[in-house]
Amino acid sequence: MELDTYVRALPKAELHLHIEGTLEPELMFRLAARNGVALPWASVEETRAAYDFTDLQSFLDLYYAGAAALVHEHDFFDLAMAYFARAHADGVVHAELFFDPQTHTARGIAFDTVLSGLERACRDAHARYGIGSRLILCFLRHLSEEEGFAALAQAMPHLGRIHGVGLDSSEKGHPPSKFARLFARCRELGLHVVAHAGEEGPPAYIAEALDVLKAERIDHGVRAAEDPALMQRLAHTQVPLTVCPLSNVRLRVFPTLAQHNLKTLLDAGLKVTINSDDPAYFGGYVAKNYIDTAKALGLTKADLKRIARNSLEAAFVDDAARAPWL
Ligand code: ADE
Ligand code: ZN
Repeated sequence: MELDTYVRALPKAELHLHIEGTLEPELMFRLAARNGVALPWASVEETRAAYDFTDLQSFLDLYYAGAAALVHEHDFFDLAMAYFARAHADGVVHAELFFDPQTHTARGIAFDTVLSGLERACRDAHARYGIGSRLILCFLRHLSEEEGFAALAQAMPHLGRIHGVGLDSSEKGHPPSKFARLFARCRELGLHVVAHAGEEGPPAYIAEALDVLKAERIDHGVRAAEDPALMQRLAHTQVPLTVCPLSNVRLRVFPTLAQHNLKTLLDAGLKVTINSDDPAYFGGYVAKNYIDTAKALGLTKADLKRIARNSLEAAFVDDAARAPWL
């Protein structure tokens, strides 16, 4: 079977996906026109041409600018439905969506507007495509822990609709330990915990995410390869890594896909998954991440099957929900 067909037919979960990072320029411009929002670019083409990133921060600056087009409940719904349609075509049976409420509440958008639009899309996607989903609230780590607590306070009335919390945005200089109290509180509330670590930041941030935040999964985590003891720990504990190969190349974590360390991590026995991160910005949704990585690193079909299975095992669902996929 051809690789493309094989990959799309593999049941898989997507566990590292920022819903704001699925905003394609076409939809961005439609929403901006609908909402009377001015964008920093004149056209769809000019927007895509600006997607030439030098590092994480150069991407985040554009990503936050684009998110300004999202204003109403229906905008968040449209955004998420467009993602689910693509995910379904890629063989995704379950998706755990990150969302960044602070990006929106800082612009005067109500927390409930964001959550309601996303949640309605999750329900519709289940009805239309049979895709299961979870919503994970990410705290912006360039902001203070105090501001994180304020975001949590806004989320409190809605906790039944949120499955977990994460930590994203500018990594360097913002270690996981900065958010120790906030994540302790989230754990007390029964929320699942994940964190971006070891994307641009050092391996010590991965250890902190595990030890201090008690992260159940590490988002990215590729810099673990620099620390043999940490590699052994991750292999032993089987804490999943949500690796995003196309993102890592576009943000220059690795110069080329052929130089990505995903196969090294996999061969060392780590529980590696493949995800798209911000697919509208990085040139591909999850199936393209599988396919391009397989071609660049010589992954076998057995490797791809293992990775897809890892993603299903690492999802925040109970074993009864997981069983039909495995
Ligand atoms: N927010 C959206 N994408 C991100 C990434 N790759 N790293 C950190 N924060 C993000
Ligand atoms: Zn991410």
